[in-house]
Amino acid sequence: MNKKTHFGFESISSDEKKGRVNSVFSSVATNYDIMNDVMSFGLHRMWKKILIELAGIQEHSQILDLAGGTGDIAKEILSNFPNATVTIGDINYEMLSEGKKRSVNENFFKNADFCSLNGEMLPFNDNHFDVITIGFGLRNFVDKDSGLKEIYRCLKPDGKLLILEFSKPTNQFFSQVYDWYSFNILPKMGELIASDKDSYKYLVESIRVHPDQETLKNMMIDTGFKSCHFYNLSNGIVAIHVGEKAS
Ligand SMILES: C[S@@+](CC[C@H](N)C(=O)[O-])C[C@H]1O[C@@H](n2cnc3c(N)ncnc32)[C@H](O)[C@@H]1O
Repeated sequence: MNKKTHFGFESISSDEKKGRVNSVFSSVATNYDIMNDVMSFGLHRMWKKILIELAGIQEHSQILDLAGGTGDIAKEILSNFPNATVTIGDINYEMLSEGKKRSVNENFFKNADFCSLNGEMLPFNDNHFDVITIGFGLRNFVDKDSGLKEIYRCLKPDGKLLILEFSKPTNQFFSQVYDWYSFNILPKMGELIASDKDSYKYLVESIRVHPDQETLKNMMIDTGFKSCHFYNLSNGIVAIHVGEKAS
């Protein structure tokens, strides 16, 4: 049966969501990196650095950066751990293509593999990766539980999952300011800088319907992850969830 799911505030069929999410990222790909800097005032760089600090990466770790898009997280990992191997897996051709170009221009192509895939059906053997990171990606999955199960399957025993995702602000006043900025300013910025108001409207709405900190933690526990916990960053605008595969 084709179940209903969210696409921002719309309720649509699961089949339709995959295509529409893909259109959003095809549309934003060329401006994606600059828009990230502008919209978050550069904060996403700090959030990604913290993600990598928490990952416990070793010199020769095998890492999957799922929904890796233009390779931001992979670049940061490989500049700190040049002997690690990072597979950047993403469903969107245009995002991967921007990432590949960037890996050559910004010199992080060695030990970086770009792989076209759907995170809900990973094309890897069981117990393959030491660490899997996913930055601002899970929110866009049609079936998040399938994604989490696939991540679990592909991690080695004791391997670590780190999810960096928008979450629920922890402070009421701050939350109101953040809502005002999100609904009034962000889509306008999308229109002015990237001529693409609708994609940034989706971005804002998809954040609001994404599971909050505790719900996502419980989804990880239900998948089988152990030692699940999360860190709120920037007043809970984003959270990093961490969990490990059983030994
Ligand atoms: C907001 S971007 C995040 C890119 C990058 N991780 C970052 O933090 O800058 C979300 C990415 O998730 C990808 N994505 C969405 N659904 C996916 C799926 N089912 N499997 C793999 N990637 C997916 C999109 O194509 C897009 O590149």
